[in-house]
Amino acid sequence: MMVPLKRRKVCGPVSDRGTTVKFPYVVIFLVERKMGASRRAFLSRLGRKNGFQVEDDFSDCVTHVISENNSADDVRTWLDLQQKGNVTVELLDICWYTESMEAGCPVEILAKHKLQEVQKVKEESVEFLIPSYACQRRTSLDNHNTNLTDALSHLAENAELNNEDGRAVAFRRAAAVLKALPVKVTSITQLRGLPCLGEHSQRVIKDVIENGVSSEVESTIHSERFKALKLLTGIFGVGAKTADRWFKEGIQNLTQLANSGHDLNRAQQAGLEHYYDLNQPVTKAEAEAIGDIVKKAVLDVLPGSEIILTGGFRRGKITGHDVDFLITHPDEGKEVGLVSKVVSWLTARGLLLYQKNTRNSYLESEDGPAQPPSNMDRFERCFSIFKLEKKEMHSKHLHPGTQSSDQKTSIEHLQYFQANDLSNSQMRPNRNWRAVRVDLVVSPISQFAFAVLGWTGSKLFERELRRWAGQVKSMSLSSHALYDNKQCKYLRATSEEEIFTHLGLEFIPPSERNA
Ligand code: CTP
Ligand code: MN
Ligand code: MN
Repeated sequence: MMVPLKRRKVCGPVSDRGTTVKFPYVVIFLVERKMGASRRAFLSRLGRKNGFQVEDDFSDCVTHVISENNSADDVRTWLDLQQKGNVTVELLDICWYTESMEAGCPVEILAKHKLQEVQKVKEESVEFLIPSYACQRRTSLDNHNTNLTDALSHLAENAELNNEDGRAVAFRRAAAVLKALPVKVTSITQLRGLPCLGEHSQRVIKDVIENGVSSEVESTIHSERFKALKLLTGIFGVGAKTADRWFKEGIQNLTQLANSGHDLNRAQQAGLEHYYDLNQPVTKAEAEAIGDIVKKAVLDVLPGSEIILTGGFRRGKITGHDVDFLITHPDEGKEVGLVSKVVSWLTARGLLLYQKNTRNSYLESEDGPAQPPSNMDRFERCFSIFKLEKKEMHSKHLHPGTQSSDQKTSIEHLQYFQANDLSNSQMRPNRNWRAVRVDLVVSPISQFAFAVLGWTGSKLFERELRRWAGQVKSMSLSSHALYDNKQCKYLRATSEEEIFTHLGLEFIPPSERNA
């Protein structure tokens, strides 16, 4: 975006106003449009007092153009009118200027400081500037709008249960935008100019803001269909399609399923057997205890292996629905067959209640850059149910958790479970172990960075990364590789940071991928 500095006249340490210029390589111009003359004059004085060079007139010497409530397009149009449209400068939002004033020096330019490219800013002033792809913004775990995001997530979940993927994604994207807002929204006017908020989502948001609840969400989540499908898909191994088929046959709870005479596959049998445990959130402490065991197994069968915790726990969540591990070995090829060796090790010690292995079926030469048919990757992996002895929970792993929205979901499951089914003894197993879902994935070292990125999530963040890669960069991203469709070549990477760089994105750390 910047033109080489040698083309620019570098101004001296003392400006022609007599104020000291502390940062000669930053020459600022404030755009008056929408800012107004008096605020512009005030901000200019403030900047100069702090040692910044703030120009009254636009010239070649300007490096940073600052505006308020304008889109990048607006500012470019304005620059064109000054016949300076061919000059490349940083187009920044006022937040960069105010943060720099606070810091007493020009702060590093982050994505949030840059003017929005795609979004058309309306005539009225907008309160939040949020880029439209979730991978362009930071989403931490502290969500200020759970009332709104829970409502939209329920509708997304309902759409998923109805196999309406397009609708589901639209609700998920809308919820993700609200998760990224720095404050709680109290008026619909604050949402002006935000991306990804379709008419339907806006209607739901308005209802919740004005009435505390959305009647559509309420009637959905209390419908017999939603309750039954949620209960049935709460069984490991049962997807939306199977649940829908069963519901149409009149099966609404676990007892009816058990009595229906349906032949359940191995996964579903295990899912039914461990229904209660698998619908209890897994704590960080439990994840760490399992991590210790898996690490021991992996190092025993292949010394030198590396193992990392991925999924929600890598994003800083304190509970999850399962535990995800990614394993590799620094010598490419040594990792082949590792999953089955680890599974044998664990099975020999009675630590697995269920496991299903898949071999690595990815071959760059054959698979090529085309998107895999589903979002499934082809790594060697194992979907398992772990038998976690409570004695494995050393005191170092024990610390009290707090109630999260995940836990609420599982409590809801339990409520359906209690309302519909089975005896108390099965519901509250008084045993010295519990069942935990564990995913083990093995990646060759050459694909490891892509695998880490792909298995860290969130699911929406991953989907948005792939959408950005395809729509904006003409690239295909998977958990195995990144392919540039224009240069017709694979782009290699050994770290997540490199992949973000290839994609032209600012690096977003795992804890801020909670979209
Ligand atoms: N994933 C994948 N292929 C699958 C299953 C999952 O690539 N067959 C990826 C998902 O895209 C996600 C990550 O693995 O990025 C973790 O998935 P999952 O465990 O389902 O979700 P979490 O974010 O870990 O949520 P939770 O904490 O509830 O487990
Ligand atoms: Mn997970
Ligand atoms: Mn998982």
